[in-house]
Amino acid sequence: MLPVLNDVIELARSAGAILRAGYGQQHDIRFKAATDLVTEIDHQSEKLIISSIQSRFPTHTIVAEESGHLPGSAENCWYVDPLDGTVNYAHGIPFFCVSIAYGIGHDIQLGVVYDPMRDECFSAEKGRGATLNGQPIRVSDATEMIRALMVTGFPYQLWESENNNLDNYSRVSRVSQGVRRLGSAALDTAYVGCGRFDGYWEVSIKPWDVAAGGLIVREAGGIISNMQGEPDILQKPCSLVAGNAAIHPQLLAKLNEA
Ligand code: IPD
Ligand code: CA
Ligand code: CA
Repeated sequence: MLPVLNDVIELARSAGAILRAGYGQQHDIRFKAATDLVTEIDHQSEKLIISSIQSRFPTHTIVAEESGHLPGSAENCWYVDPLDGTVNYAHGIPFFCVSIAYGIGHDIQLGVVYDPMRDECFSAEKGRGATLNGQPIRVSDATEMIRALMVTGFPYQLWESENNNLDNYSRVSRVSQGVRRLGSAALDTAYVGCGRFDGYWEVSIKPWDVAAGGLIVREAGGIISNMQGEPDILQKPCSLVAGNAAIHPQLLAKLNEA
C-alpha cells in the first residue's frame, strides 16, 4: 500500500490545528543552539505526524527535524518538519507551516505544505500537478531578474561558516526587485510554486525544509536544483535554487559568480 495525497493533506491539517491552537500562548522554549530554538508545540505536532505515519506504514523510514532519522526501508522515506518557521512562531509572527513529503528515496512523490493561520494548503503529487486548497497553481511568468521578487533564508550558525549566504544576499539584491527573508523555507518554496515569489535560494538547508516545497515548485511548472544545477535537492549540502524556467538559470548563474 502506498500513501495517498489526500491522507497526507489531512495529516498536515491535523498537525496545523495543533500549531494554530498553541499560537500566541506562553511556550516552553529550549535552545538547540544560540539562535535555534524549539517549542513544546514542535514536539506535539511531530508526535502526531510520526505516530500516524508509523501506524499506517510501519516499515517506512522517517526523517523528522526533532526526532532525527527513524530507520526503515530505504525506498520509502518521509521528510517531516512539524513546524517550519519556529522562530516566527515563538515570537508570535503568523508565518509558519507544517511540511510533510513522501519519497521513493530522494525521488519525492507527495508533498504538502500547510499554513494554518491562512488556512492555505499547498500540495503536489509527482506527475499530477500542484494545487493550493485544491485549485491548480503555476509559477510566475517573470523573465527579467529586475522584475523578479526573490526570497531566501540563512543558516542558524551564521558566524560559523563563510558560506553563510550574506554575500549572495547582497549580490542578488542588486539585480532583482528585492529579496525577502520570511523565515519558513517550506512556505518560501510553496510561494514560488503559486507565483507569489519569482525565485528562491538557500544554502545548507535540511531535507525536511524543502522536500515538499521542492515538489510543489516542480509540479507548478518551475525548476528547483542544487547549486550545480542538478536535480537531487535532498543530497547534502542541500544548497538550492528555485524559480520559473526563465529566472532559475539567471539566479543560478548569479549565485555561482561567487
Ligand atoms: C528554518 C526556516 C528558515 C530557514 C532555516 C530553517 P525551522 O526552519 O525554514 O526559513 O532559513 O534554515 O532551519 O527551524 O523554523 O524549522
Ligand atoms: Ca524547518
Ligand atoms: Ca522545524
